[in-house]
Amino acid sequence: MDAAALKEALRQRARLVENRLVTLFADGAVPGRLREAMEYSLCAGGKRLRPALVLAWAELEGLAASDVLDFACALECIHTYSLIHDDLPAMDNDDLRRGKPSCHKQFDEATAILAGDGLLTEAFLVMARTPLEASRVLAAVSIVAEAAGPRGMVGGQMLDMELTGKRADLSALQSMHRKKTGALIAAACVAGALLAGGDTERAQCYGHHLGLAFQITDDILDVVGDTSTLGKPVGSDERQGKSTYPAVLGMEQSRALAQQSIDQAVAALAPYGDHPQAVFLRRLAQYLMERSQ
Ligand code: IPE
Ligand code: IPE
Ligand code: MG
Ligand code: MG
Ligand code: MG
Repeated sequence: MDAAALKEALRQRARLVENRLVTLFADGAVPGRLREAMEYSLCAGGKRLRPALVLAWAELEGLAASDVLDFACALECIHTYSLIHDDLPAMDNDDLRRGKPSCHKQFDEATAILAGDGLLTEAFLVMARTPLEASRVLAAVSIVAEAAGPRGMVGGQMLDMELTGKRADLSALQSMHRKKTGALIAAACVAGALLAGGDTERAQCYGHHLGLAFQITDDILDVVGDTSTLGKPVGSDERQGKSTYPAVLGMEQSRALAQQSIDQAVAALAPYGDHPQAVFLRRLAQYLMERSQ
């Protein structure tokens, strides 16, 4: 699978997810401005990486993508909420997201906070309604809750705030990155595999390493990336004195550590051989070193 084929495979999954996302709040029960703000951020674009991982791992373990599409969309709702809150003036104070004004710039701070709250809560409604075996759904929802909450992403965001303006060591950085980004990415993989009734150890191992590499490359792109391609401001981390891999370890070592994690993610897929979804997931991991957005 070459780079163009991988991008097309990602685009296909993104389309599937986006077609479903736009229908989520169509029942008229969400107040107009709140719905507008939630849909604004949700539909602004984005790579749709986390839902793609749910779909791929479910398929790898034998389920049809359509059976987990809503669950995959829920992961994107949680991720989008995290971006809305991450951009708030009290956090990273970034005005651009997914190539558009951040939610609090387009609307206002209170609306952005509520849009984030709405997306997070709605995600649990969507996941709870997954029409698969109840015990599997419950286990998958628990995995996502743990990864998104104070033990995972929210905890990681707290560590990020606490380490701002300080000089973190490698183990503090690793722990922050695992929580703030790695946890939800790993949960997407594990939930997909779990819903399919498959092995979760390999999904966890792949997702954990992919997630760490993903945040390292995000930190790298904040230094060497391009705002118009990334759709978010470059140089934001340095401006705020964030503890990032490049700031703490330098660019070369950051790249080497990202590559190490990618290799470990790829190794976790070995038992699946040439299964088409394993080929996709392997290529996706390798693509992290080449990505520009
Ligand atoms: C950005 O995530 C925030 C991080 C956790 C690094 P993505 O790079 O997946 O953002 P989108 O969804 O493509 O906009
Ligand atoms: C954010 O990390 C991680 C989240 C949980 C949202 P960053 O603050 O580096 O993400 P970007 O660079 O703003 O997308
Ligand atoms: Mg941040
Ligand atoms: Mg940020
Ligand atoms: Mg970043």
